[in-house]
Amino acid sequence: MIISDVDKKYNDLVVFEKLNLTIKDHEITAILGPSGCGKTTLLNIISKTTDYSGTIEGNDGKISYLFQSQRLLSNLTVKKNIEYVLRSYLDKQEREKVTNDILKKVELTEFANYYPSQLSGGMAQRVSIARAFAYDSDIMLMDEPFKGLDISLKKKIIDVFLRLYKSDKKTTLFVTHDIDDALIMANRIIVLSSDGKIVLDETINEPFDERDVGMYGDLRAKIYQAI
Ligand SMILES: Nc1ncnc2c1ncn2[C@@H]1O[C@H](COP(=O)(O)OP(=O)(O)OP(=O)(O)O)[C@@H](O)[C@H]1O
Ligand SMILES: [Mg+2]
Repeated sequence: MIISDVDKKYNDLVVFEKLNLTIKDHEITAILGPSGCGKTTLLNIISKTTDYSGTIEGNDGKISYLFQSQRLLSNLTVKKNIEYVLRSYLDKQEREKVTNDILKKVELTEFANYYPSQLSGGMAQRVSIARAFAYDSDIMLMDEPFKGLDISLKKKIIDVFLRLYKSDKKTTLFVTHDIDDALIMANRIIVLSSDGKIVLDETINEPFDERDVGMYGDLRAKIYQAI
């Protein structure tokens, strides 16, 4: 995906001025940066859910977008929320199979018939994750995907994500405030400054299953400094 000279303003507020960023297909990129620097806006620009000027190439495929704020459909059960995004391309039987499979992976099988209002924050977040993972997209956008999850669940879900990624290699951009998440599951880490400029752009080459956050003391310090 090639983002060229993108400008974004909300009235008088300039979020991006001539933003240029090339994302290699099939890579996982982590976006970090202070609150309000434009991370969500960047995902909105890529998903064409907000207007901008400049050009983006390579974002025409199907996009899974795990929003920062929870957007489950309150009148549908957990199961139906997931089946809903599959309705355009899978028949009923296939929808059920994919849904059951992903609910198992995020450990929510027994809550399949709950409504969103009956879930805890972390459970609702996992339904949103399951929905984004289930949808057969080309590009995956995730805005703080692991917020509200305890560490053990987060580890499991990162594992689920990385296993899915191994099989489909979806181009992925995810926003996080957690440097360790980025070190564990990104090929590339980008830090934005408060004025929407790229201040750090680092590539990590080790295969995911050979990584440990302990390996990245220097890089971690560098990212910490940049934020
Ligand atoms: N719809 C909107 N209308 C006006 N201003 C907006 C709108 N959405 C975002 N902004 C402003 O644009 C800037 C970037 O917001 P954005 O949501 O992209 O930040 P962020 O980096 O995702 O922050 P956070 O880490 O808190 O989620 C902020 O100053 C915010 O106030
Ligand atoms: Mg945001």
